[in-house]
Amino acid sequence: MADIVSEIKRRRTFAIISHPDAGKTTLTEKFLLYGGAIAQAGAVKGKKNARHAVSDWMEIEKQRGISVTSSVMQFQYNGACINILDTPGHQDFSEDTYRTLMAADSAVMVIDASKGVENQTRKLFKVCAMRHIPVFTFINKLDREARNPFDLVDEIENELGMPTCAINWPIGSGKSFKGVFDRASRHVIYFDPTGGSHKVSATQADLNDPELAQILGEENYVNLKDDIELLDGAGDELDLKAVHEGRLSPVFFGSALTNFGVEPFLEKFLDMTPPPLPRRSGDELIDPFTPEFSAFVFKIQANMNKAHRDRITFLRVCSGKFDKEMDVLHVQGGRKLRLSQPQQLMAQEREIIDEAYAGDIIGVFDPGIFSIGDTVCSPKLNVKFEGIPTFAPEHFMRVRSKDTMKRKQFVKGITQIAQEGAVQIFREPLTGMEEVIVGVVGVLQFDVFQYRMKSEYGVEMICEGLGYSHIRWIDSSPCEPKQLKISSDTKLVSDLKDDPLLLFTSEWNIRWALERNEGLVLSEFNRGDLQ
Ligand code: G4P
Repeated sequence: MADIVSEIKRRRTFAIISHPDAGKTTLTEKFLLYGGAIAQAGAVKGKKNARHAVSDWMEIEKQRGISVTSSVMQFQYNGACINILDTPGHQDFSEDTYRTLMAADSAVMVIDASKGVENQTRKLFKVCAMRHIPVFTFINKLDREARNPFDLVDEIENELGMPTCAINWPIGSGKSFKGVFDRASRHVIYFDPTGGSHKVSATQADLNDPELAQILGEENYVNLKDDIELLDGAGDELDLKAVHEGRLSPVFFGSALTNFGVEPFLEKFLDMTPPPLPRRSGDELIDPFTPEFSAFVFKIQANMNKAHRDRITFLRVCSGKFDKEMDVLHVQGGRKLRLSQPQQLMAQEREIIDEAYAGDIIGVFDPGIFSIGDTVCSPKLNVKFEGIPTFAPEHFMRVRSKDTMKRKQFVKGITQIAQEGAVQIFREPLTGMEEVIVGVVGVLQFDVFQYRMKSEYGVEMICEGLGYSHIRWIDSSPCEPKQLKISSDTKLVSDLKDDPLLLFTSEWNIRWALERNEGLVLSEFNRGDLQ
């Protein structure tokens, strides 16, 4: 038992969120470098390509040289066992990206110091805020010309509505970026450049060290003193409780590329970020330290190996210890079973594992029995974790089968793929399943969907792009949804559960509908049983 408790206590499970190109991959790689999981930076990218060559990923992934689905990595640092959840950000942004955040206990938000808060950061941040998980900010690329740090911090506060507390402060930027000032110890940490592929060495100096002006450069030194005075005057004390409740974001500065500030960030972040958090099951909170195993499904990756039509289901362990020999209960299926080939990614290697603890992510082979949000647990436990919300798609297409004789396969394919959570499907009033509207969060999901319909179900489709960009679930309506006053380019549809929704072409039309229908309440997430 003591063993289980100490194993769980040392787990830290977090996601890294950012807008593409802010430096998420680089920062992840540097974490692995400091954790000793890789010997030299540059290895992750190399491995990524190698993985495409050897694994049997979906054809589309190989063709495009990108990773369609988010992945997980585990490594050790200073006694902590760290699970990083990657959230794909480029064109492979998808609902999986959002769902992955459901499995994290905190998030690291990487922001490009020359760009500030960008679009995808905003979207991902919203999902973190919905769950009230702690968000730690790493302002990156200080080795390049950067915006004024005060402006950046203001932007986070104003744009995201998130109060911040600077843990450290940059000394210079661009070529004159020397290091960071640690506010708690009042020490200056300055770095010796190494080119970034190896760990950087840091030297600490007291702020009153007479040689500091010479080390940092006169201008940097004077600016730093002024900045510190301003910061101290602002009096934004670090309130850890507020951080843990997602009401305050600690801010760090650095450069992932040159490794400046990476280790100070990692150390403080691991100190402040919580071990596995309890999860809700009905009215109960399930304590992660409960010795019995429980987990929920947050992601399903289909057809990793087409010959076997297999799927890998990713589970977030919520309590206790998982043992590969144990029988578990699949709560939604009402069946006892043994999880097959449980595996984990260690850095970039896939490994079969014997055990896992609360906080860990495991992938298991799935013969097609699991759905997103399902609970798996020790038969002794009686838990059913709250569901995973459905996120608002932003791209829509009307689809039907090219060959009308393939109606059956078409309906089977779209239903199964939608049940897996790979796309969302909607119906227009009075139409059957022969023609549906498909909604996705990222456009690449359309390509994957079309590809899978053809290769797995033998159905070629006629697809018509639709101009809607915003979807809202109707939480409460003053009248029958059909009677709502909506603009001519707004469409009423229903989802698979027959819940009504509205498709809009702009934010403006949403406001229009809300203004004209008093009592109408719209929601961006279908929170399902997340209430
Ligand atoms: P992402 O995962 O958030 O999309 O970003 P990624 O780490 O791939 O970084 C995007 C680009 O920004 C990369 O350059 C990377 O080297 C660069 N970068 C990341 N962190 C820093 C930093 O602290 N300082 C500077 N100056 N650059 C940084 P690239 O040219 O697009 O790719 P590559 O050819 O260097 O790999």
